[in-house]
Amino acid sequence: MQQNISTNLDLALEYLKSGKLVSFPTETVYGLGADARNPNAIQKVFQVKGRPATHPLIVHLAAATQLAEWTQDIPATAWQLAKHFWPGPLTLILPKHPQASNLITGGQDTIAVRVPKHPLTLELLKQFGGGLVGPSANKYGRVSPTLAAHVAADLGVEVALILDGGACTVGIESTIVNLCSATPMIMRAGQISAAQIEEVLNEKVIVHPATAATIRVPGSDKSHYAPHTPLQVLTYADLLQTVQELQRQAKTLSVISFQQKPINLSTHLYWQQVQFDPDDFAHNLYANLRAHDQLNNSVILLEQPPLTNPWTAIQDRLARADSKT
Ligand code: TXA
Ligand code: MG
Repeated sequence: MQQNISTNLDLALEYLKSGKLVSFPTETVYGLGADARNPNAIQKVFQVKGRPATHPLIVHLAAATQLAEWTQDIPATAWQLAKHFWPGPLTLILPKHPQASNLITGGQDTIAVRVPKHPLTLELLKQFGGGLVGPSANKYGRVSPTLAAHVAADLGVEVALILDGGACTVGIESTIVNLCSATPMIMRAGQISAAQIEEVLNEKVIVHPATAATIRVPGSDKSHYAPHTPLQVLTYADLLQTVQELQRQAKTLSVISFQQKPINLSTHLYWQQVQFDPDDFAHNLYANLRAHDQLNNSVILLEQPPLTNPWTAIQDRLARADSKT
């Protein structure tokens, strides 16, 4: 085990208080944590991630009771959603408190906040007392980490400590809802769906068309969530055809599919059959992409999941990772 992977909460706290970076586990993906009241520590996060300063960070809190320290003019909808979904994979965008650093928000007057659902990190946040900025603990534009080992592989000793909380249960990033507009707007799809949010708020929400972004939309860059090996998302029929074509050209490839490997295909071909279940698919998606990436083949082919509601957040991440789009 790499030296800086640990379950030592006291050491994590000590590092955070002295302005160092600590990666923490959440139910979605691992975060790259730093004291949200420490400008130097926040700047270090941007440096280590290689992320442009204009991409705002999420502040992680132990409980909704801390909202007033980071946000202001809190609408009733925020309390309703917090009560229902926190701790959990939901991020709220609210008017920024004047004392929250502009470094966190990239100069915007709104701020993203969430209470993550992971026992180790909730305890860390409780004992820390303040807020922790926490973008996903990967280099900018790459696949998010869902294991401590993924963080170590991406960031190594650039992070003082990686708090090991095992595999992230959800596996894809939180749903982001903007509550600063007249009508609540989903800015990033996640496990918590628009329908679930509408049910709690008892009103319609808008789903932001990511391509028509006028404000900075999370992960709206094309290269986001991408493995190094080009990924192609194809229907099963197209996937089979592409396998044969690529093999004729003596190209190396691997496959992620819901189907069993057809018996007529080469035994050397790495074909991973995955479960036809959106929660399971999301839980394993990034680890699978990382594993396939390690093979250093010329392409990863992935069978297109259905274009139905339970797969919305997965479709979103695949569209961003797909080298064709
Ligand atoms: O599940 C998650 O949300 C994970 C875990 C670690 O909590 N965090 C995460 O952070 O995905 P990050 O930084 O990789 O993505 C957060 C996204 C960014 O793409 C950013 O553009 C957006 O949230 N964001 C943050 N503050 C915003 C704001 N004030 N307005 C609009 N978007 C904002
Ligand atoms: Mg990210």
